Amino acid sequence: MTAKRYTLTAALPYTNGPIHIGHLAGVYVPADIYARYLRLKGKDVLFVCGSDEHGVAISMRARKEGKTPQQIIDHYHGLIKTSFEDFGISFDYYGRTSDHIHHQTASDFFKKLHQQGDFVEQTTDQLYDEEAQQFLADRFVVGTCPKCGHTEAYGDQCEACGSSLNATDLIDPKSTLSGSTPTLKATKHWFLPLDRYQDFLKEWILKGHADDWKPNVYGQVKSWLDDGLKPRAVTRDLDWGIPVPVPGGENKVLYVWFDAPIGYISATKAWAEANGKDWKPYWQDSDTELVHFIGKDNIVFHCIIFPAMLKAEGSYVLPENVPANEFLNLEGQKLSTSKNWAVWLHEYLQEFPGKQDVLRYALTANAPETKDNDFTWRDFQTRNDSELVAIYGNFINRILVLTHKYYDGQVPIPNDLTQVDRETLQALRDLPVEVATSLDAYRFREASQTMMKIARLGNKYLADEEPWKKIKTDPERVQTIIHTALQVAAVLSLVSIPFLPHTAEKLRRLLGLPQQANWSELSQDEWLTPGSQLQKPELLFERIDDSAIETQIEKLQNT
Ligand code: MF3
Ligand code: ZN
Repeated sequence: MTAKRYTLTAALPYTNGPIHIGHLAGVYVPADIYARYLRLKGKDVLFVCGSDEHGVAISMRARKEGKTPQQIIDHYHGLIKTSFEDFGISFDYYGRTSDHIHHQTASDFFKKLHQQGDFVEQTTDQLYDEEAQQFLADRFVVGTCPKCGHTEAYGDQCEACGSSLNATDLIDPKSTLSGSTPTLKATKHWFLPLDRYQDFLKEWILKGHADDWKPNVYGQVKSWLDDGLKPRAVTRDLDWGIPVPVPGGENKVLYVWFDAPIGYISATKAWAEANGKDWKPYWQDSDTELVHFIGKDNIVFHCIIFPAMLKAEGSYVLPENVPANEFLNLEGQKLSTSKNWAVWLHEYLQEFPGKQDVLRYALTANAPETKDNDFTWRDFQTRNDSELVAIYGNFINRILVLTHKYYDGQVPIPNDLTQVDRETLQALRDLPVEVATSLDAYRFREASQTMMKIARLGNKYLADEEPWKKIKTDPERVQTIIHTALQVAAVLSLVSIPFLPHTAEKLRRLLGLPQQANWSELSQDEWLTPGSQLQKPELLFERIDDSAIETQIEKLQNT
């Protein structure tokens, strides 16, 4: 936590479908919590993302819908960008890889490596579909993974075990274009000789990050490095993508996983251009901490291939951490864009208007941080009704109502503190420190539960102290109780900012606190001073009807 600036990236989503809750839980919600947390600490933060518009995923979707790839990316880019905005993911810039600035940046990157002799040019036999008259790479071919036996591994990657593959490694390959068994045909490609970076990667990750990278990430990386890295083709015989910008590259494009991560850099350039800033320090100054937020299927690309590219290029910083998450399932089954087994963000926003924070909370409290997890609509309802409504919302509503009833909404002057008051105020110092410790270690789930402990503390304090029973007999004591409980509310309003940004904004308005806050204010002695005026109570959360939950479950049953 001492870097001069932070560059945070969230995996660029493919524009072959809308965003669903798996993407949110795995990548965008934790990334956004972290970005908001660092901003709250007053750090210089750049949080970038954008649409990943190349690759076979897009071509396949276009075929399926009978559209051009351009039509597909324009449609989904618009949908994704808007739904992120409506949901409140606070990107500083959301770019797209079809953008001119990205084509230029990725081409220049490739040309520089080419000039430096960092590629190996080789003609090899690649899988070819005679019927479709096309080379098969990536998602155009499926087969059995030689490592784990999964029968639907792609030509570049097995999503079951995370292995990165060459299409010719697949056992019993089949074309997804025609269903036929491919033949072999010679073609020339540019390979990144990953074996040359093996020693450097071992030193940097296995020695340097044994303690601070998550065990799931470190473990995957170690197993690839132990197996030994092999050269990987970074070009493809496809017609959709960034043209290979060197002689002999006609009719070939860059491999999508070569250009997409460069998209983080392009997005930074576009942000800098739009805001009159310099992009370079965010990528090239050693005082910058680069953190990639991704899902587990992206680990090899962000921990091995992209770092090898950055290292080869020579002028970039390497990621400080890659806090990848595991997968979220939905009602016991794997989420799937193609099978329409998902909760789509744009639909959620329409069907649950104003409830962005409820989904954020449900996904964070049950985040797939260390293992795959399951999202169920019943759990979503319980998180809302039993935690956000019954604890957080109830506490805030009670304290606002009581303050209005007894003191016309003005913070009262406290009298002598009891042991319980002192303990409560002490917890207000300790709990935020715990939250920060968890966030610093990318343990968002734990952090969210500690935040909730602050609300529980307030709720319990009021229930135990029962000011409503003492207002006639001991008004001096009640002043102290209300004052103390309001301090809990104020601390909660600050600590909630990264987790529940919409709620925190409303709560701070109700408490008459400024929206511009800083984490360091948590070390103050008092957060709401006697005499300050509160707004009229408004409900922060409301119960979700059984019928709304049943509608969602039925909707899934009909897919
Ligand atoms: N589009 C990829 C996916 O959805 C992620 C790309 S991340 C980037 O799995 F680094 F390439 F940008
Ligand atoms: Zn596998």
